[in-house]
Amino acid sequence: PIGVFDSGIGGLTVVKELLRQLPGEDIVYLGDTAHLPYGTKSAETIIRFTLDNILFLLKQNVKLIIVACNTASSLALDEVRRHFRIPIIGVIQPGAWRAAHITKTRCIGVIGTRATINSKAYERQIKKINSTIKVISQACPLFVSLVEEGWLKQPETVGIAKKYLGALIGKDKKMDTLILGCTHYPLLKPVLKRVLGKNIKLIDSAQEAAREVREILEENGLVNKKPKVKGRCRFYVTDDPEGFSRQAVRFLGYRLSQVKRIINV
Ligand code: DGL
Repeated sequence: PIGVFDSGIGGLTVVKELLRQLPGEDIVYLGDTAHLPYGTKSAETIIRFTLDNILFLLKQNVKLIIVACNTASSLALDEVRRHFRIPIIGVIQPGAWRAAHITKTRCIGVIGTRATINSKAYERQIKKINSTIKVISQACPLFVSLVEEGWLKQPETVGIAKKYLGALIGKDKKMDTLILGCTHYPLLKPVLKRVLGKNIKLIDSAQEAAREVREILEENGLVNKKPKVKGRCRFYVTDDPEGFSRQAVRFLGYRLSQVKRIINV
């Protein structure tokens, strides 16, 4: 199987993309719900959680791991990757790559949790690809709670989006591409599009990460050989399996019947 982990439910946006782009693959998902949220924690703590999550997935015999969480990808990926032999893919590099290749004005916006934005991980990746691109960023911490509350289109959500994004548009009118640098933000696309208008392109890091995984599996001959057979998904959490299962409807479109709680990762 492919291993995927996130701080909680948000990584299901990546699972949804994997199911669409690689329907024959088996997936093992771990939501570290006992330690949620990662977006407010220190790098040291996130590295520790990330290592534990990877070790759990390795025990499930995975062939590749996706760090679906933008915060963990920003703060822990470089540090932990070198300890393991299997490919470990984050969501930052694929999203940064896509944005850097489609911007025409060479001005990219990034939104994410406070930890992701403070780490400047997206900015570093984009500058590596093209150092002339300007990156403007904004932490949008309330978005995670709004999505988890199911407030996807409420007037309050539109108001908060206007406030956060106003800071980005105000700072530089040239932004033509915005990276959704957090697992939960793809669910806010309709509101974000409404607030930003149709001239600003939204980059969904979940979509881009799934695309990269497909390419890596193909290059390494690791794609499931029976593409007609639908893959199996297993879901694990470190706390509150019922809550996870209920919330999953919002992310995947259906309720998960089997979510297992693991005590020690
Ligand atoms: N999964 C996190 C991310 O993508 C958002 C939720 C959290 O703060 O743990 O950054």
